[in-house]
Amino acid sequence: MPNAELPPRLPKARQLLSGFLCAARLGQGWSFQPVNRYHHRCRMPKTVLMCPPTFFDVREPKNPHMGLAIDRVLAQHQWENVRRSLHDSGLKVELIDPVQDLDDMVFAANPVFVGEHPSAGKFIVPSRMRYPSRQREVAFYVEWFRRRGYRVIELDLKNEYLEGHGDLLWHPDRSRIWAGWGFRSTRGGVGKFVVAMQRLGFPVVSLELVDKHCYHLDTCLCPLNEAATLIYPEAFAPASLDAIRNGFERTHNLSREEALQFMGNGIAVNGRFITPRLTPNVSRVLAEEGLTPVVVETSEFEKSGGSVFCMKTFID
Ligand code: ARG
Repeated sequence: MPNAELPPRLPKARQLLSGFLCAARLGQGWSFQPVNRYHHRCRMPKTVLMCPPTFFDVREPKNPHMGLAIDRVLAQHQWENVRRSLHDSGLKVELIDPVQDLDDMVFAANPVFVGEHPSAGKFIVPSRMRYPSRQREVAFYVEWFRRRGYRVIELDLKNEYLEGHGDLLWHPDRSRIWAGWGFRSTRGGVGKFVVAMQRLGFPVVSLELVDKHCYHLDTCLCPLNEAATLIYPEAFAPASLDAIRNGFERTHNLSREEALQFMGNGIAVNGRFITPRLTPNVSRVLAEEGLTPVVVETSEFEKSGGSVFCMKTFID
């Protein structure tokens, strides 16, 4: 691979600082292992997994966005538009069968964490969802991946919670993982994930979330490329905010209003940014980062606390 295609690496000091913050905050000692060079190859995702919204509903309130009833027909229509926008962005869209009574199964980002290791191959880490109604989704997703040959890394989470790509985001160059905790995933759950990923050579940067409206990391941190991210700064504890600012060359701030309207829950892929809406601020950031906005309305899913990013999971 020619050098020009390699993404910029974090300066050494920043890498070490991220590792330190992660190890220190989670009390994991000093076993932090810097990621090996192989992991730094930049690779755009090619395939996403989605779940049709056949049984999607808003029942018990699991986050502060939930309360209003959904329009089922509109939800189906919006989901189709999200699917089409992913397809038109060059992604292959795979589907998992929806299951009756699993009203949040449409949020494919949550039940498993998906990764790939140069020697261990493709793997998943099953979630332990905080709400029992969502815990039942996990087995269906795990089975889907198992059948396709993914290795399943089960963590002994006991009473801890870990909510997949709601709280666990790959850095775009796959060099490390950003991990949020505080409302849904717990600090202890992320701690166990850190240990498992360290064994594979993936550093994890642990981030404490402090705003209940931004209950998942994917509502307030939205990487745009290896060097830049959208962020709603007030959603993070001070040390976590420092870790993000040290980990990206450019952090673009979202206002509270923009974050609560899920503009931090967009999907950056193949030069596009799929988002439920735009403001002059977000438009300017996208232009600066060379991304073309694609607006797809997701009002019905926002009534459940999610938008485009949560409605899929990248699988390779
Ligand atoms: N109603 C769902 C829940 O509270 C929404 C999940 C949104 N997913 C996400 N990755 N933010 O669990």
